[in-house]
Amino acid sequence: MKAIILNDFGPASNLHLADLPLPQINNEQVLVKVSSISINPVDIKTREGKGSASNIKDRPVILGWDISGEVTESNSSHFKKGDAVFGMINFPGHGKAYAEYVAAPAAHLALKPGNISHDEAAAACLAALTAWQNLTEHFKVKKGDKVLIHAGSGGVGHYAIQIAKYLGAYVVATSSADNKRFVMSLGADEHIDYKAVNFEDETSDIDFVLNSLGSEITGRSFKVLKKGGTVISIASGINDELAENARAMGVKALHTMVKSNGSDMEQLAELLEDGKIRSQVSEVFALEDMQKAHASVESGRAVGKVVVKV
Ligand SMILES: NC(=O)c1ccc[n+]([C@@H]2O[C@H](COP(=O)([O-])OP(=O)(O)OC[C@H]3O[C@@H](n4cnc5c(N)ncnc54)[C@H](OP(=O)(O)O)[C@@H]3O)[C@@H](O)[C@H]2O)c1
Repeated sequence: MKAIILNDFGPASNLHLADLPLPQINNEQVLVKVSSISINPVDIKTREGKGSASNIKDRPVILGWDISGEVTESNSSHFKKGDAVFGMINFPGHGKAYAEYVAAPAAHLALKPGNISHDEAAAACLAALTAWQNLTEHFKVKKGDKVLIHAGSGGVGHYAIQIAKYLGAYVVATSSADNKRFVMSLGADEHIDYKAVNFEDETSDIDFVLNSLGSEITGRSFKVLKKGGTVISIASGINDELAENARAMGVKALHTMVKSNGSDMEQLAELLEDGKIRSQVSEVFALEDMQKAHASVESGRAVGKVVVKV
């Protein structure tokens, strides 16, 4: 099968097309013939030797976690040959998604809704799971809560806006002016152009902030929270200084990590099928053009998701 392997941790030029044997499946696994893959910033970090690199022990290194495709062999009663499935495989371990075939634990997959494409399904894995797990598990957002989503036009942000609206929240989202129309089309109640103003001067009384940007934004976000409100930082941890500041201001600051979870994928499948959420796929690359797909995500300017067709 064709796969993209990473020779050494480093730049995108280390990603190469290779011919590898088909993966073998174990108990409770299925073999998926992959149609589409989505690319996340953690793919870039891991390629550079950061991110999940320390969890990847065997060689060759095959990056990627998000797939949508068709089951061709099954060792699980959950899925049969011919089922269309999607999911985030083995995160934060070795996902091996950049390939024509992936051996996937059945417990990390859900059936793909029939009314969305493989591109849209592959998009709605790591980024959508991150939004879902944070908003429902960590924040437990309920009707009437006021939520601030930073980088609302990004992979995580665009699902987070839609899921927060589905849960009944009032949603404030940041992005540059270029992406205001997109952010509002997702259902945001208010948009803040972070390039024109300081977000902390524009909003207040927030229950939950989802921050997919750096530590500086986490610290500034404390100022817009209600007493007892929570900031979740997903791109960086909470250092001692931030933890101390949060305590002093009577707010909570957490760092969370998304986990592979087939039940959560089923919830997302239902929302996608019912049109409650949708994937914005802004760019699609061929498998051979993986280096270009990495460059697009690495730019930090991606709108919605970048997908690779296999
Ligand atoms: N811990 C976890 O479980 C977890 C899970 C998923 C992702 N993450 C991390 O979260 C981060 C974001 O991931 P992603 O996939 O959402 O990224 P992404 O899709 O690459 O984000 C790109 C978007 O960010 C916006 N943006 C950039 N700087 C901004 C700023 N200062 N204020 C507001 N918006 C800004 C850009 O909009 P403009 O062009 O308009 O600026 C662009 O649309 C990454 O570091 C990723 O590794 C962590």
